[in-house]
Amino acid sequence: MNRRVPLVLFLSLGAVTAVGLGRAVTAAPVNYKLPEETAAFKPGPNLEVVQNNCTACHSADYVNIQPRGPKFKKDFWQAEVTKMIKVYGATIDDADVPKIVEYLAATY
Ligand code: HEC
Repeated sequence: MNRRVPLVLFLSLGAVTAVGLGRAVTAAPVNYKLPEETAAFKPGPNLEVVQNNCTACHSADYVNIQPRGPKFKKDFWQAEVTKMIKVYGATIDDADVPKIVEYLAATY
């Protein structure tokens, strides 16, 4: 058996402990940069209406991650917006609903 293993283990444990103690006693402020906000609605018609109505409860990621394709056009988005209102209690002006649906179908 390699007799150096316990020594190496002992030394590395010591190093870990020293680092741990060093951290515990220094109270320097930690500065870090937050990542850029990536979950934004894409530019498109009626973008403001969407930003006003669809950002209160969750990020634009919920829209971004929806599947794409011919099956996910107007009807799909109409149903999504209706669901936000009926199921999750979003308060959206009746007049804004078609604008939002138009934006989502055209942009996503
Ligand atoms: C009152 C809060 C609220 C508002 C306002 C809201 N949503 Fe949601 N939304 C939710 C909740 C709650 C979920 C479900 C979260 C979960 O399942 O984790 C959700 C989920 C979603 C999803 C994911 C698919 C799904 O059906 O669960 C999409 C897409 C979505 N919202 C789009 C929208 C759009 C577009 C708008 C603006 C018209 C909007 N949301 C406004 C609460 C809201």
